[in-house]
Amino acid sequence: GSMGGAVQRSSRFSELNDDDVRYFEEILGKKNVVQDEDKLSVANIDWMHKYKGSSKLILQPCNTDQVSQILKYCNSRCLAVVPQGGNTGLVGGSVPVFDEVIVSLSSMNNIISFDKVSGILVCEAGCILENIMSFLDNEGFIMPLDLGAKGSCQIGGNVSTNAGGLRLVRYGSLHGNVLGVEAVLANGTVLDMLKTLRKDNTGYDLKHLFIGSEGSLGIVTKVSILTPPKLSSVNVALLACKDYSCCQKLLQEAKRKLGEILSAFEFLDGQSMDLVTNHLEGARNPFSTSHHNFYVLIETTGSDESSDKQKLEAFLLGSMENELIADGVLAQDINQASTFWRIREGISEALMKAGAVYKYDVSIPVENLYNLVEEMRSRLGDAANVIGYGHLGDGNLHLNVSVSQYDEKILSQIEPFVYEWTSKKRGSISAEHGVGLMKANEIFYSQSHETVQMMASIKNLMDPNHILNPYKVLPHSITS
Ligand code: FAD
Ligand code: MLT
Ligand code: ZN
Repeated sequence: GSMGGAVQRSSRFSELNDDDVRYFEEILGKKNVVQDEDKLSVANIDWMHKYKGSSKLILQPCNTDQVSQILKYCNSRCLAVVPQGGNTGLVGGSVPVFDEVIVSLSSMNNIISFDKVSGILVCEAGCILENIMSFLDNEGFIMPLDLGAKGSCQIGGNVSTNAGGLRLVRYGSLHGNVLGVEAVLANGTVLDMLKTLRKDNTGYDLKHLFIGSEGSLGIVTKVSILTPPKLSSVNVALLACKDYSCCQKLLQEAKRKLGEILSAFEFLDGQSMDLVTNHLEGARNPFSTSHHNFYVLIETTGSDESSDKQKLEAFLLGSMENELIADGVLAQDINQASTFWRIREGISEALMKAGAVYKYDVSIPVENLYNLVEEMRSRLGDAANVIGYGHLGDGNLHLNVSVSQYDEKILSQIEPFVYEWTSKKRGSISAEHGVGLMKANEIFYSQSHETVQMMASIKNLMDPNHILNPYKVLPHSITS
């Protein structure tokens, strides 16, 4: 049932031999050249258990120079490479398709510097997001991004996928918050673009090529990132809406009435809520008396406890009076707030417990966004459980089709319908998860031929042997 079954191993790549392994042991030391079966089977399979490769080798460099030596060698030998962070990616980008060598950034996990005046953090790519968050918390700062995978994903993986997540509505994307990167090109050249400046207009801003290119243009080894101060008052409310149109109007109102303190606006439908409460231990619908069609999680973050609360309460009251919300609970303490977040962030995990999942991540103008879920539901009938949730504040829908097991017949009902529908609305078939293996051949639904051609030219320039994350991101017809 794995996708990408149509891809063939490219004959341009060599096969790994004993001399290669000996060379890697020389430069990295034996313990950082991993051939252990158990470790390989974990690294060969993705978080959703949908994509499975057959790599025989994991390399664990400890510094940039080692990454450079690895790539220089792999390039000269024409050995294909998959950069791997926390392996939480959702599009099959982080695991090998065939026998690619896995380069894991996990051992490069040092925080290099933090400037308390500017809030600028410099760290190695393998730092786990949650560890950076704890470090910053002690310093009185926060990360501009947060996501359900924080306990495993790495900042290098976040940058490489341009991960969006739960705070984008407030702080914007990593294209704005990442101030610099250090990256290693396929031939081993180290690009030092590790600036710690807010403003720098000297020539082309090449760091952006590494933000969101999913390991296809280089390996990110260090990152510099602008972090906002931690503010004293955070409030979380879970609201129930009778229909999608109310969610939409509520978003417009929240932007106006909560303004600068709005820090998250997430939504989930009743089917998502049921899935979470059925499959996640301890997750409970706080509105136990009745079922609601939609739920919205609103968070505010500001610097004045009493006025922030007043603002939020006035907004909630107004929304009740206008009948935009049918019911609502304002978290009374940090524990209740985290139970609300657990419901929203736990959806992906609940989907895994429910069986297999076809996952789509689209940007569509908010007015039309939920129509896709409804159309999919009527297409599939009882064959699957279709759920919709996502970052409504950013116009980003997560459409998920939950099934007991992967089934080609169901898949053919979903694709290409979902891509055609999105394309017709001039939406994006990948809002935040990336293209990976899953959508490499579907990129034309969201990008013009000329644009994809330019991407291919950049790929050819930066990685002429195509050793970096082959079969991913760009269509196979262009890169093979
Ligand atoms: P991996 O999965 O290891 O890799 C992802 C891609 O980046 C691969 O193509 C890989 O080759 C490449 N890569 C990794 N590290 C490097 C590096 N140092 N240099 C070059 N290339 C590299 N995404 C969102 O955008 N928003 C969300 O809210 C969100 N929530 C999630 C919740 C859960 C529970 C899960 C499982 C995933 C979620 N994701 C979300 C998916 C998201 O892409 C990843 O969680 C995260 O950004 C990937 O980081 P990682 O370290 O796990 O990277
Ligand atoms: C989310 O917003 O929960 C993530 O992008 C993960 C997912 O869609 O499963
Ligand atoms: Zn998401």
